[in-house]
Amino acid sequence: MRISKEELKTLMKNKIQKAGLTEEHANGVADVLVHADARGVHSHGAMRVEYYAERIANGGINAHPNFQFDKTGPSSAVFDGDNGAGHVAAKLAMDEAIKMAKENGVAVVGVKRISHSGSLSYFVQQAAKENLIGLSVCQSDPMVVPFGGAESYYGTNPIAFSAPGENNEFITFDMATTVQAWGKILHARSKEEEIPDDWAVDENGEPTTNPFDVKSLTPIAGPKGYGLMMMVDVLSGILLGLPFGNKVSSMYHDLSEGRNLGQLHIVINPEYFTNLNEFKKNIAKTMADLNNIKPASGFDHVSYPGQRSAEREKKYSEQGIEIVDDVYNYLISDKVHNNAYNNKDPFAK
Ligand code: NAI
Repeated sequence: MRISKEELKTLMKNKIQKAGLTEEHANGVADVLVHADARGVHSHGAMRVEYYAERIANGGINAHPNFQFDKTGPSSAVFDGDNGAGHVAAKLAMDEAIKMAKENGVAVVGVKRISHSGSLSYFVQQAAKENLIGLSVCQSDPMVVPFGGAESYYGTNPIAFSAPGENNEFITFDMATTVQAWGKILHARSKEEEIPDDWAVDENGEPTTNPFDVKSLTPIAGPKGYGLMMMVDVLSGILLGLPFGNKVSSMYHDLSEGRNLGQLHIVINPEYFTNLNEFKKNIAKTMADLNNIKPASGFDHVSYPGQRSAEREKKYSEQGIEIVDDVYNYLISDKVHNNAYNNKDPFAK
């Protein structure tokens, strides 16, 4: 099913509003979700709406949060999301970080007590659109083994970065610190296909190729990805006085409770370090240099980070966004949700 970005955003906004969020917050959530679908990151777009709707309807996302912004120093602040919609809180906190970095050169803004905030490229691109460098990290539910471990401790703890080039183009890097997202394992299950042996482990911590035996995911690049997950957890959890490590709340556990997650935005104003035009020119040069690298066999060209997503965004804006039929049918249905997620075991067969 292919629909326009505007239509998809409206359908998502209406459903989230029907679940209980205010129109303003529903619109804010839908904006982040449609950004993900428009870039081809469908794991963080419309397919999440039913889960959010169930959590909102159960009270686990605060429909009327009391957002508080506490400026703790010239370049530091904490935004308390009161367990409202994470997408909205993270966006507003980034708006504040942008103002601070414009005034003081750098801003570090913690976003605490939020629900899931979606695809982090949205927030770092807010900064890049204002000629700033954006960096954002956040906690996620524990479903990853630390290197050498046989049980989960960290989440898929993502890291995102964006910097402005020329002509409104950005270099944007945005990744989970796991080899693969959980969604890819579900996909292999649905097709009854084997998975590569470096994606996940079974209940004994042994690598598995059977998607039905998966009990935990694996960090990228062994101890190095594990180290990055630790760093994300310190910056977006411990630093903000939040639950950390395997005490981070799980996505589907008790949908009536707030998730108390954390996120950290770091914004750097290039003008405080170098000439802005020179900086943007050199980012554009980096993008061009990478595109001109001789491709290895099996590749027809080298893309810079974020290029493929930007190309999809352009294509989908002309041709519409491809949405799974089931997701579309749910969005146009009268149902707010189907009671599918509360206390669901994500690893259940
Ligand atoms: P991915 O594996 O699709 O892409 C990771 C990065 O690699 C991207 O920056 C992409 O531009 C780049 N890339 C991919 N293929 C490339 C190629 N051929 N050439 C050059 N660059 C290439 O992303 P992943 O790890 O699946 O994450 C998806 C989304 O999930 C992200 O938006 C992330 O923020 C989000 N996420 C959110 C979480 C949360 O709790 N809020 C938790 C985990 C992930």
